[in-house]
Amino acid sequence: MLRRFTEAGHDVTVVPTAAALHFVGAPTWAALSGKPVATEVWDGVHEVPHVRIGQSADLVVVAPATADLLAKAAHGLADDLLTNTLLTARCPVVFAPAMHTEMWEHAATQANVATLRSRGCLVIEPAEGRLTGADSGKGRLPDPGEIYDICLDALARGVGVHDLAGRQVVVSAGGTREYLDPVRFLGNRSSGLQGYALARAAASRGAEVTLVAANTALPDPAGVKVVRVETTEQLRTEVLAAAAAADAVVMAAAPADYRPTSVSEAKIKKADDGSAPSLALTQNPDILHELSTTRPRAGAVIVGFAAETGDATSSVLDLARAKLARKGCDLLVVNDVSGGGVFGSADNEAVILGADGSATDVPHGSKTALAHVIWDEVAARLHD
Ligand code: CTP
Repeated sequence: MLRRFTEAGHDVTVVPTAAALHFVGAPTWAALSGKPVATEVWDGVHEVPHVRIGQSADLVVVAPATADLLAKAAHGLADDLLTNTLLTARCPVVFAPAMHTEMWEHAATQANVATLRSRGCLVIEPAEGRLTGADSGKGRLPDPGEIYDICLDALARGVGVHDLAGRQVVVSAGGTREYLDPVRFLGNRSSGLQGYALARAAASRGAEVTLVAANTALPDPAGVKVVRVETTEQLRTEVLAAAAAADAVVMAAAPADYRPTSVSEAKIKKADDGSAPSLALTQNPDILHELSTTRPRAGAVIVGFAAETGDATSSVLDLARAKLARKGCDLLVVNDVSGGGVFGSADNEAVILGADGSATDVPHGSKTALAHVIWDEVAARLHD
C-alpha cells in the first residue's frame, strides 16, 4: 500500500505502533516512504509531531487496525504517536481491521467499530479466508489494492456520504462463458472492472452489496458479498435470487446472448476430412428485460448498460434510447465502444439515460467516478 501511494505521487508519513515494529522494522518504513518514522510522541519533539502529523494529513489510514487500536481510537486514548495523530486529524479516517474472527465478533470490538462509524470514520469490513494461525474465517486484511482504492475514493469524496445505508443492491459484472465442450467456450472481452467499481462505490456509500461475478480475475471488493458464476443461465439464477430483496440492480455484466444448443460431454475432435463443424446456437434469456418486466421487488431501480457502436443510419444515442425502451429498465448507461477502448481500461465515459427522459453526460474519467454518478442517479430514484 505504501508503494502504491508513493508511486502515485502521494506524500506519506508512516506512523508505526510499537507492535507494528515487531513485524516490519522502522528502517524499512523510512526507506520506502523516504521520511523518518517515529512511534512515540517523545521523538523529534521540537517539531511537535503528535499534533502536526494529524493536522496536516489529507487522509489517515490504519492498515491493519488491531482490536486494541480500534478500542483506543473509539475511546480517544492517546498514548503513542498514532493515537495522537488520530485525535488531531480532521480529515477522512479509514480503518482496515485485521484480527481473528473471535476478536472481530466480540461485542467490545463491534461496539468500538459502531462508535467509530457513527463518528464518520470508514471502517472496512474484514475479508474472509485464512488467518494467521491454521484457522480460517472473517478477519483477514482485504487485498491492499482494494484498501488503496477505498482510500483514493475517500480522498476524492470524503467518507461521510452514507446515502445508501440500509439499502441492498445487486451488481453483476464480467462476461459469461457458454461451453461447447469441457474445454472450449464462447466468451467476450468484459473485464468486470466497471461492475467491481460499482460494487465498491455502493459499499463505501453504506449499501449491503451482492456482486454476481462472471469469470473475473479481480480481488473481492472489501465488504462485498461475491457470488461467482460462469454461464448466462447461472448469472440469471443468482441475480434473480438476490434481486428479490434488492432496492437496486445494476446489470454491468456482459451476458452472452447465445449459447451452443448442445454441450458436448467429450472434447470435440477435429475432423480428418478438413471440414469445419457448424455451431447451432440458442438464444439466452435477457436478464435485464426479465428484471424490468417482472420487477422482483416493487420500487427497485433497475439499471442496464449498453455498449453501442452506432451505424450508418442511427447514432449511438438513438440506438440507446431504443434499447432503453426495449429493455424497460429505469436507467441505461451508454458507452460508445466504437474504438474498443473501454474493455479492460481503468477509465470510462458514458451518458446515463433515464426512462423519465433524463440524460446525464459523464465525461471521461475513472470507472469509480462513473460508478458514483450512477449511484447518484439511483439514489435520486429510490423511495423510502
Ligand atoms: N443483458 C442481460 N441479459 C442478456 C444480455 C444482456 O441482462 N442475455 C444486459 C446487460 O447486462 C446490459 C444490457 O442487457 O445491461 C445491454 O446488453 P446488450 O448486449 O447491449 O443488449 P442486447 O439486448 O443484447 O442488444 P444488442 O442487440 O445491441 O446486442
